Amino acid sequence: MSDKRIIIALDGPAGAGKSTVARRVAERLGFVYINTGAMYRSVALWALRLKTELSDMHRLEQLAIEARIEFGANGHVLLNGEDVSEAIRAEAVSLAASKVSALPAVRRALLGTQRRIAETASVVMEGRDIGSVVFPDAQVKIYLDADPQERARRRAAELVRRGQTVDPAVVAADIRKRDESDRTRTASPLMQAPDAEFIDTTGMSLEEVEEAILRLIRFRTANGKELAR
Ligand code: DC
Repeated sequence: MSDKRIIIALDGPAGAGKSTVARRVAERLGFVYINTGAMYRSVALWALRLKTELSDMHRLEQLAIEARIEFGANGHVLLNGEDVSEAIRAEAVSLAASKVSALPAVRRALLGTQRRIAETASVVMEGRDIGSVVFPDAQVKIYLDADPQERARRRAAELVRRGQTVDPAVVAADIRKRDESDRTRTASPLMQAPDAEFIDTTGMSLEEVEEAILRLIRFRTANGKELAR
């Protein structure tokens, strides 16, 4: 058996179904699950709490360098030792994260952290630029997408599950705004890597998406243990 670490890169827009499926796939394979969106959200949350101007690149870069972001059990996210798993899901943080993530200096800082994590473990890493920029040599690259309406519906359902009151029209508009900014920014925009497998999750259940991804992983690796190529 090779001890080569395996990287599964999972990219796609908000509401495509990445997080839940990535966590389950990581669990099935015994890999570490890393949600890079949570890292941008953590920097954004810290900036909002410190009342940092979201145009203050230097300060935001400093926060991204200094932020101690850790992933605990069940996808919990710790920022400087505090569990911020719920706090980073607020809509204000979503919008701030979209702005913060457009700054090249912030991306550079978090890119270093993301690469370091994968030096010590096999990972399922989800985000927007994992297959294109963070790990262009990942053994498995997957790009998930779904109808914009379906993505807005899922996002609204997630917010309701978290006990928030939602206006579906506002959620749909927020998703559109974030998509637009994630896709059109200059620094590492959301895009499908040319060698990524595309999966349209519209109308697919979580189990179906999970199975499709595990099939791809098995095809590319020997049960997630060894490179087939
Ligand atoms: O996946 P998410 O919605 O939690 O991501 C939050 C924000 O961070 C979103 O606007 C996109 C951005 N992001 C990014 O630019 N690059 C990543 N690798 C992950 C997220």
